[in-house]
Amino acid sequence: IALPADIFGAERKNSKGLNMNILSEAQPFFAAIDKFNDTQWQAGPLVDGKTLTGDINTVVSPYDTKQTVGQVVFADQQAIEQALASASHAFPSWARTPVETRASALQKLADLLEENREELIALCTREAGKSIQDGIDEVREAVDFCRYYAVQAKKLMGQPELLPGPTGELNELFLQGRGVFVCISPWNFPLAIFLGQVSAALAAGNTVVAKPAEQTSLIGYRAVQLAHQAGIPVEVLQYLPGTGATVGSAITADERIGGVCFTGSTGTAKLINRTLANRDGAIIPLIAETGGQNAMVVDSTSQPEQVVNDVVSSSFTSAGQRCSALRVLFLQEDIADRVIEVMQGAMEQLAIGHPGKVQTDVGPVIDATAKANLNAHIDHIKQVGKLIKQIQLPAGTEDGHFVAPIAVEIDSIKVLEKEHFGPILHVIRYKAADLSKVIDEINSTGFGLTLGIHSRNEGHALNLADKVNVGNVYINRNQIGAVVGVQPFGGQGLSGTGPKAGGPHYLTRFVTEKTRTNNI
Ligand code: NAD
Ligand code: ALA
Repeated sequence: IALPADIFGAERKNSKGLNMNILSEAQPFFAAIDKFNDTQWQAGPLVDGKTLTGDINTVVSPYDTKQTVGQVVFADQQAIEQALASASHAFPSWARTPVETRASALQKLADLLEENREELIALCTREAGKSIQDGIDEVREAVDFCRYYAVQAKKLMGQPELLPGPTGELNELFLQGRGVFVCISPWNFPLAIFLGQVSAALAAGNTVVAKPAEQTSLIGYRAVQLAHQAGIPVEVLQYLPGTGATVGSAITADERIGGVCFTGSTGTAKLINRTLANRDGAIIPLIAETGGQNAMVVDSTSQPEQVVNDVVSSSFTSAGQRCSALRVLFLQEDIADRVIEVMQGAMEQLAIGHPGKVQTDVGPVIDATAKANLNAHIDHIKQVGKLIKQIQLPAGTEDGHFVAPIAVEIDSIKVLEKEHFGPILHVIRYKAADLSKVIDEINSTGFGLTLGIHSRNEGHALNLADKVNVGNVYINRNQIGAVVGVQPFGGQGLSGTGPKAGGPHYLTRFVTEKTRTNNI
């Protein structure tokens, strides 16, 4: 397949990673992160650029609940009202600000994120329990989102689209911001998804009221400070930390908002949908990116070692706390025993522990509730299924929210009634003659986020890719880590509404269209 010479285009390149094997790069990088080992961050509602005070909540580390990371004040009713009123008031002026100005503020924000990379990675680790590699990827993705939407906005909104005018009229199509966009994000990508939503909404000419997940308010606060520093006016971007039940439900019920961009669980997306339907005011769009019951299908032409590499990384990276993560592995029976045997060995090698240590593969899950829910599922699944492997938690993890990575063989995907958002892999054997049943079984869940395929039979792989209803298919590789502008990301059905984050159509859902027919 011939790819264009410069696949990103002249205007944009994705950010660079870090090669940890080059000691001269890695050592100063780790030293810079270590400077934030004792930092105590403070955050609160950032309304019109002022940090409001109130009741204080202490933030602790998921890997060691005895370690505090900082303090956060959640938004009260007065903060919510002021943020919404100011964002509404600021909208007409921001919508008329030239798209080049909006885009250059986002480009500047991307630069500031890179300049503050080590602090942001330290926050990812200490507040969200993310590994260093996940932290590096998180900052890169946030940077890439800002630059990508800046370029896309200029392309889409720089000039009106000229349409035919057969009778001599001038027909033009304009794209404009919709108003105040509410952006609600999850804790598992507390910077990348948070800023992906916010940067898209801002680029398209909306003002924003952003609500982070309550578990990761400190990093969201730093991101908003940097956005203001980059030139996003303080009235245009308002920050309201708080719970979904209080802040989230209040801002989505408000008449003044022009759209909602949400990433999180399918259940919450449905709740928000109901709130929007019941509120007074305009009919507004909900962009929802939600959960998955992601499968990988492996046939007997595959190479077990490569399969296992990709299975382990897809299931256990980020402690399985990725919406894209592999949950159900379908193994063709002729190859199943061999794959399971190699997988048991590979799981044995997983290093579980402090996410700030470079050798750690699997860190903690986000909080005590997540840990309890995952362990309850593990107890249940061990009873109905056959244990393949469970890794014992090492000493020193007692004070954190660690869940032991596990693989269990089950009979049917129907045993799983919902997404289990952690390091739990379910394995199902299938016969070659039953492949169409496998496809039906995956589709029967109603989710449609990622699908992995391992096969050396191209026709077979492409057939599966075509028939399973998902947003992202990965053939002969792992199924996590979509790259901005390269693998536009997002699902269908119970997994979300689209459009795809980091793709060319994303911004079109953040705008309204106006056709102007001019006979002057
Ligand atoms: P969640 O649904 O519990 O919370 C997400 C956000 O919604 C949080 O900010 C929360 O405070 C807010 N919220 C909760 N109730 C609300 C309400 N009634 N009104 C308004 N807002 C409300 O999800 P989570 O546990 O934070 O995140 C994990 C989930 O996110 C998983 O299901 C995962 O698959 C999904 N996810 C999806 C994608 C994707 O791109 N498809 C990416 C990351 C995570
Ligand atoms: N975009 C994230 C991934 O692909 C969720 O893993």
